[in-house]
Amino acid sequence: MTTRILNVELGSRSYPIRIGSGLLSDPANFQALRGRRALLLTDTNLAGHHLNRVLETLRMEPSQALVLEPGESHKSWDQAGRVLDWMLQAGLGRDAALVALGGGVIGDLAGFCAAVYQRGIDFVQIPTTLLAQVDSSVGGKTAVNHPRGKNLIGAFHQPIAVIADTRTLATLPPRELRAGMAEVLKYGLLADTVLFGWLERNLDRIMALDPQFISETVERCCAIKARIVGLDERESVSGGPRALLNLGHTFGHAIETYSGYGEWLHGEAVATGMCMAAELSHRMGWIKAAELERATRLIGSIGLPTLPPAGMQPADFHRIMGLDKKVKDGKLRLVLLRSLGEAVLSADFDATALEATLEKFCVAGTGGAGPAQAIAIPAG
Ligand code: NAD
Ligand code: GLY
Repeated sequence: MTTRILNVELGSRSYPIRIGSGLLSDPANFQALRGRRALLLTDTNLAGHHLNRVLETLRMEPSQALVLEPGESHKSWDQAGRVLDWMLQAGLGRDAALVALGGGVIGDLAGFCAAVYQRGIDFVQIPTTLLAQVDSSVGGKTAVNHPRGKNLIGAFHQPIAVIADTRTLATLPPRELRAGMAEVLKYGLLADTVLFGWLERNLDRIMALDPQFISETVERCCAIKARIVGLDERESVSGGPRALLNLGHTFGHAIETYSGYGEWLHGEAVATGMCMAAELSHRMGWIKAAELERATRLIGSIGLPTLPPAGMQPADFHRIMGLDKKVKDGKLRLVLLRSLGEAVLSADFDATALEATLEKFCVAGTGGAGPAQAIAIPAG
C-alpha cells in the first residue's frame, strides 16, 4: 500500500506526517531518527502489541523504552517528573530524541517532557489511536493535566516527524475507535462538508478499518489540521483559526473534569460537546434544524454519547468552563457553527440560548445516558 505524506509547513519547524498501513516495519519511515540516540515512551497496552516491532525496526534495546500505566490519569505532573528523571538517568543529551508510541496521553506527555528537557529536545510521534492519528500527534500541543482542569500545564513543541501506521488501529478497543471518530467528525463539521458527506456514506467501511478508507480518513483530517496549524501555530489569543479545532471541546472538557479524568473518554466528551455546540448554534439562528439533526444523527450512529453525565448541572458547566483557556477578559468564547462546515469562535453568543442549551442537555442527561450506555447503540 502506498504511503501518504503530508507536510506541516512551519518554516524551520516543518515536518512530515507519514500515513499508511504497515509503516512501523520499515526503517525508511524513521529517517528523522537516523544516527540519533533515542529513548521511547509508551504504555503497557502498546507493550503488549506494537512495541517489539518498533524496537526491532529502530534497533533499540528494551531498556531504551519506558513503559507507563495507560490512561488519562497518568497524564500528570508526577508522571512527567518520572519520565524526566529517567531521561536524566539515561544521560540523554540535547542531540537525542524522544519517541512517543501510543495515543494522545503518551503523545502529550512525551511531547511535554521533550519540550522542557534541557530546554527542549526533538521528539517523534508514533500515534496508535485514531484520535492521536487525526489530531493530537499533529500540531505540537503538549501538556499534562492538573486537578483544576485538563491540559493546564503545557507547552507548544512540534514533533520532527509523525508516523501514523493505520495497521496499529486493529488492536484498538472498539470504544477507543469510536471516540477517535468524534475528532474525525469534528473536521467535517467545522471545515469540510464534502468530508462530512463522505463520512456519512462510508462510515461502515471506515469503522471496519478498510485499509484504503481508514488511510484516506486520517489523511483528509490531517490535511485540515496541518493547514490550520500552518496558519496559526500557537492558537493566538485574539482568536485565530486554530481555536476552531476546539469545536465541542469547551463543553467536553467540562464533562471530563466533572466526571474525573478517565471516566469519559476525551472523544466521547467531545462528541457530546459537539451536540451541545450544534444545539446552541441552532438556537442562535445559525445552523438549520436539518443540519443539527444530521450532525447529531451521525454522532449517535457511531455509538457516541450525545448527553452529559447523569447529575451534571448547568452550574457545573459554568463553573468549569470559566477556567477554559479560551476565556478572554473574563468572557467565555465558544466555537459554534454558522453552518455545516463553517465554524466561528464567538464571545457574543446569546446567554439565554446558552442557558436553554445547558438546561435541555442537563435535564435529558439526568435520565442516565452516560458513555457506557450510549456506546451500546449499534453503529450504522
Ligand atoms: P489514550 O492515549 O489514553 O489511548 C487510549 C487507550 O488505548 C489507552 O488505554 C492506550 O493504552 C490504548 N491504546 C493506544 N493505542 C492502542 C493500540 N493501537 N492498540 C491497543 N490499545 C491501544 O487516549 P487518546 O484518545 O489517544 O488520547 C486522548 C488524549 O489526547 C487526551 O489526554 C487529550 O487531552 C489529548 N489530546 C491532545 C490533543 C493535542 O493537540 N495535543 C488533541 C486531542 C486530544
Ligand atoms: N486539538 C486542538 C488543537 O490541536 O489545536
